[in-house]
Amino acid sequence: MNKARIAVLISGTGSNMAALVYAAKHPACPFEIVLVASNNPDAPGLRLAAAEGIPIFAHSHKGMTRADHDSIMDAEIRKSGADMVALAGYMRILSAGFVQGWAGKMLNIHPSLLPKYKGLHTHERALEAGDSHGGVSVHLVTEELDDGEILGQTPVAILPGDTADSLAARVLIAEHQLYARVLGDYVRRDFDPVWLTQRVRALAMAEPEAEESLSHGMACFGIKGGKKFAWVSDNHHGDGRVALLVKVSGPEEQAMLIERDEDRYFKPAYFGNDWIAIRLDLGGLDWEEVRQRISASWLAVAPAKLKKALSVADEF
Ligand code: GAR
Repeated sequence: MNKARIAVLISGTGSNMAALVYAAKHPACPFEIVLVASNNPDAPGLRLAAAEGIPIFAHSHKGMTRADHDSIMDAEIRKSGADMVALAGYMRILSAGFVQGWAGKMLNIHPSLLPKYKGLHTHERALEAGDSHGGVSVHLVTEELDDGEILGQTPVAILPGDTADSLAARVLIAEHQLYARVLGDYVRRDFDPVWLTQRVRALAMAEPEAEESLSHGMACFGIKGGKKFAWVSDNHHGDGRVALLVKVSGPEEQAMLIERDEDRYFKPAYFGNDWIAIRLDLGGLDWEEVRQRISASWLAVAPAKLKKALSVADEF
């Protein structure tokens, strides 16, 4: 199986980063750590990562605008070939541009049971409120601080006499268990034929007059009573690939795509020169491109009458 390539951003100790690094050493782990980067050149975690043979990068944010610092980090992450980012005690608010560039591909670990106690001093606040539990959340990063979709949580019981430090220490144990588990589940989806087919289904069925059928064992999508515009090929004839098949403008575009990235694109067997297969199961997939290609393929096969009826309908 292809492994997802993760860049981890830290600011300090890096114990969560270390937990991810050690989890990734297990052969069955679906991700690998390709970079550990920090805004703090003295972050102790950098030494640990370097000793483990992981490329490291540090650039202080001091004396720079947020956007400039983020763009330096972003360039380095992209250079590493990472297809996802895991924030692990990265104590920086991120600029909108950076967050948008990694939408759906950046996770954070936060030491509270979100939506409770966003921001800092989470353990103090849980103790002051008399909560029975503190805890940890792993969530997707959006522009709003600590607000994205929650992917996993572990509650941690508060003991009589707990201080913020004693609670933090126990929560940290839970953090180390949770992060690798949630990240693993999240990246595994990108290689799971069922989940990949579901995402294609949602996009294809959003096209006008779309209907799904099964053809040669493949999920395929067509216009009701008309032509097909998208197929999902899953291990067809045992080729070990999950791919989306869509129509392109012709042989030139087909050849151009294959030349651009011959791992991602290939000529689908038994289809003409005006179809392309796009591998869905390589990780780092651009779902916006997939959406556009499905729409373009729909347009290529839709009868003029339907297109006309829709564009007329659009005007009202
Ligand atoms: C962790 O407790 C993490 O949840 C927290 O910082 C600590 C970093 O420890 N993150 C935040 O508070 C983010 N808002 P580590 O460097 O040992 O992983």
